[in-house]
Amino acid sequence: MSRLLFTGGTVVTADGSFRADVLVEDEKIVAVGTDLPANGAETVDASGRLVMPGFIDAHTHMDMPFGGTVTADDWATGTESAAAGGTTMIIDFALQEEGGTLNGAIEEWTNKAQGKAVIDYGFHVAITDLRDDIKTELPSIAGKGVASVKIFMAYKGTPLYTEDDDLFETLQLSKDAGVLVLVHAENGDAIAKLQEQALARGDTAPRFHALTRPEPVEAEATNRAIRLAEVAGAPILVVHVSCAAALEAIHLAHERGQTVYAETCPQYFAFSYDDLAREGFEGAKYVCSPPLRDESNRPALWNGLRFGDLQIFGSDHCSFNYEGQKEMGRDDFTKIPNGLPGAEERAMALWTLGVKEGRLTENQFVAVLSTNQARIYGAYPRKGALVPGADADIVLWDPELQVSATADNRHGNVDYTPYEGMTFHGGPASVYVRGNLVYRDGELVGERGSGRFVERNFKAANVEVKV
Ligand code: URP
Ligand code: ZN
Ligand code: ZN
Repeated sequence: MSRLLFTGGTVVTADGSFRADVLVEDEKIVAVGTDLPANGAETVDASGRLVMPGFIDAHTHMDMPFGGTVTADDWATGTESAAAGGTTMIIDFALQEEGGTLNGAIEEWTNKAQGKAVIDYGFHVAITDLRDDIKTELPSIAGKGVASVKIFMAYKGTPLYTEDDDLFETLQLSKDAGVLVLVHAENGDAIAKLQEQALARGDTAPRFHALTRPEPVEAEATNRAIRLAEVAGAPILVVHVSCAAALEAIHLAHERGQTVYAETCPQYFAFSYDDLAREGFEGAKYVCSPPLRDESNRPALWNGLRFGDLQIFGSDHCSFNYEGQKEMGRDDFTKIPNGLPGAEERAMALWTLGVKEGRLTENQFVAVLSTNQARIYGAYPRKGALVPGADADIVLWDPELQVSATADNRHGNVDYTPYEGMTFHGGPASVYVRGNLVYRDGELVGERGSGRFVERNFKAANVEVKV
């Protein structure tokens, strides 16, 4: 039996912080308390460290075909970069392929992950074609431990795009099946028209990506999705909320008492429209959807995290190389593959910009990176908690660590980092997945293929979110 005792650290949970030791036996936490006896366990000195539950990133796109290419990180490099940021579990989007089924998507993504993942994982299925057989099939995925699906209201003209009637029926079917519906909320029709008009004017540079996806386009779709969920009587989760106007629709739904979960991402705090408007074609490195916004949105987003309208902080890690991938859109911004790497930077960016600046407490940090994600996505308390019986997914966080990001010191498979030159204050000193060390002092030590699939079970009524 393997036994580990973390001693001398400060345990930080979503509820509070306290001095305690943590005892691990055979991949599970068995005790949290003061002065626990070692009784032969290997001790890990956690003094000066904050002992946190492993972070969960429920928004990643590993080895995913998108925008005429495939994301640069596969399940090995993608989960390694996540581990280097303190993440011990991801939930990735398995795409239903054209003519394919939901279970086919789960199988395909299982094959992509197996033998490669260094951390634990789950899947959401992105529904792209709600045929009659898919409507019948939908309830079966809950039994497979896949408790969430995603609908894209954006990306008109691609197989991802979904009309309102299918979104609405997905909400109805999912409610009955115990499946949570996630939405990418942007008005695909308006964007397609604005893009067509911009290109006709000769406006081809990366910044037009943002100018053809203005804030009301996100706010309108967010409100529409929420209202459709209200009619269906279903819970809903809005991913990658980027602006105050979209957040307002979520806040109003909360005031009505509607069950609406919402996520925001580091790129909306670290970058802005100005990055998209960088000289030459540099802006392509910052093309993601929804696009980077004016900085004036940030106070509202911070308040959303502080006061609970935004419960989770995901990376939306969707990496493409600059060379050969982002470059596909040199003469036409609509051909730049959408997405940024960020799994490695997610927690460090939140600590640096949030906790260190006094905008969030360390407990809110743990809530939005870990505990709330486990609760909302149905993995709690196996994940997201430092309690006896939970998986021993542990981050020893060093609040004094300083790291300046550069493409060469990133652990993923991307030829640039949008965070180039940014100095992070605070970061993971070591990271354990089920008691196994996967990352320490800048080095990955986890074995590829050691990550396990985690079955999730969503019940909206059971979700109590801490903020
Ligand atoms: O730009 C983004 N966000 N790319 C990833 C796909 C998505 O919409 O989440
Ligand atoms: Zn999206
Ligand atoms: Zn995404």
